[in-house]
Amino acid sequence: AIERTFSILKPDATTRNLTGAINAVIEKAGLKIVAQKRMRMSLPEARRFYAVHSERPFFGELVDFMVSAPVVVQVLEGENAIAKYREVMGATNPAQAAEGTIRKLFALSVGENSVHGSDSADNAKIEIAQFFSENEIISA
Ligand code: CMP
Repeated sequence: AIERTFSILKPDATTRNLTGAINAVIEKAGLKIVAQKRMRMSLPEARRFYAVHSERPFFGELVDFMVSAPVVVQVLEGENAIAKYREVMGATNPAQAAEGTIRKLFALSVGENSVHGSDSADNAKIEIAQFFSENEIISA
């Protein structure tokens, strides 16, 4: 089925001027960027976005990183988009990511791993709604 997923190009990607290179990988995989904006994430926004990880030891580091520089938030659309984008991103830890994946190509570490993608349809819906209104998403 045609799905939508939520993507973030993280601070390590924006600061190295890699947003176009990453978008090229996304588009080559057949995913369509149907909404996109560059922004500075606020601390409350970052804490809310990663609330599910709030008890993890890396939570503080993760939130500090996400507010440290601009991000690009996106909605990607396509057949099986949620699983497809996770495949295109590669493993969370770039040392374990497959050849040709965004994280293998560009990520620096498990924290500075260049991209985020939703892990389920429920989370895609929640994450998209945190950053986009429906009228900002242009499918056709
Ligand atoms: P993401 O898909 O954005 O969702 C949670 C993030 O936590 C994950 O990508 C990683 O970037 C980050 N993360 C996971 N493990 C660690 C860790 N050990 N240290 C720092 N960040 C981590």
